[in-house]
Amino acid sequence: MNINVTKSQIGLDGVPAAETVLSHVDGERGELIIAGQNVADLAGKASFEGVSARLWAGASGKALSEANVRASLGAARERAFARLPDLLPATRGMSVVDGFRAGIAGLRGENGLEDEATIVGAFPVIAGALVQRTRGNDPIAPEPNVSHAADTLRMLLGRKPEPREVAALDTYFVTVCDHGMNASTFTARVIASTQADLFAAVTGGYCALTGPLHGGAPEPVLEMLDAIGTRERIKPWVDDALARGERLMGFGHRVYRVRDPRADVLKAAIERLEASGADLPFASEVEVYIREALRRKNPARPLETNVEFFTAILLDALEIPRQAFTPVFAAARAAGWTAHAKEQQRTGRLIRPSSSYVGVMP
Ligand code: ACO
Repeated sequence: MNINVTKSQIGLDGVPAAETVLSHVDGERGELIIAGQNVADLAGKASFEGVSARLWAGASGKALSEANVRASLGAARERAFARLPDLLPATRGMSVVDGFRAGIAGLRGENGLEDEATIVGAFPVIAGALVQRTRGNDPIAPEPNVSHAADTLRMLLGRKPEPREVAALDTYFVTVCDHGMNASTFTARVIASTQADLFAAVTGGYCALTGPLHGGAPEPVLEMLDAIGTRERIKPWVDDALARGERLMGFGHRVYRVRDPRADVLKAAIERLEASGADLPFASEVEVYIREALRRKNPARPLETNVEFFTAILLDALEIPRQAFTPVFAAARAAGWTAHAKEQQRTGRLIRPSSSYVGVMP
């Protein structure tokens, strides 16, 4: 017998799939709590290592300090660099986004060391090596004693980053390190719920992240800004795109009915960065017009700016190449994926929903 299911049930809108101490999204109020604090109170104040320590301690029940995590991530970056000769052959001929998937799929636990740090430490090393390869360069060896954000930038840019650049990337890492039951985190939790290991869980999480409805949106955001090009073209370009029924990247969200709080946090980080290459006034004008046009088109469905709009501008201002945007997002979100995977494993409960059969009966 068929059971009728609605669009929202198929998309699991509002269905709680887990209990978590890690993060909470309030879509009506536009609030994001990560490890007990509002994102606006963490970003620019706490370090990525400090927030990762809180997430991992929350998931495992073991105390962890910022200094512990900083040391573990430095050591993990060095171990990952030593493993590049084994990991990179699987990525041969691939783009940065695809090569990153193949590279992280080759990660394994080492000598009983904590898997969370092994994963999060390895991600920027692999991303950096793939970016350097696009320039015909060898991978840049990590420096274990600098912060995770500083070393990530070094390996991606091939130069020592300035303190304001490190601060901007650290703010980005903190802002996006976890976000409730988003599609990639749900994927990671489903995999972990089978008692598969954290390496399997984050590889699946990354695959879910790459789609343009999730973490694949920032590159198309820049393409949109490039295509609009000038202030005079904002209105006609946006109106035409909406008339063709296109989705505008960096807008809309499944949960937020008001502005994504991460958008303002990242906008402020771009202002503090004072990068010469970022045309924030132009991007802000585009943003204002798109919000207005979306309201006009669909007054009943609030569609606001999401995190990906300002992510694109921030990462571009940091001179990170577009093709590395999704792996860099993954480098931050891996802190959340690993915490969620561990939290899920500890419940011992398999995630196994049902489906409504609409096919032919025998
Ligand atoms: N531009 C234009 N129209 C939109 C947009 C958009 N960005 N987003 C939603 N809509 C429209 C839909 O076409 C739909 O219209 P309809 O009712 O006339 O058919 C209506 O708004 C509702 O859309 P849904 O698909 O029900 O919304 P959902 O909650 O599934 O979508 C999503 C959320 C996927 C993020 C969507 O807003 C979107 O595609 N945005 C663009 C891609 C993007 O920015 N992705 C990054 C998200 S943030 C992150 O994952 C880190």
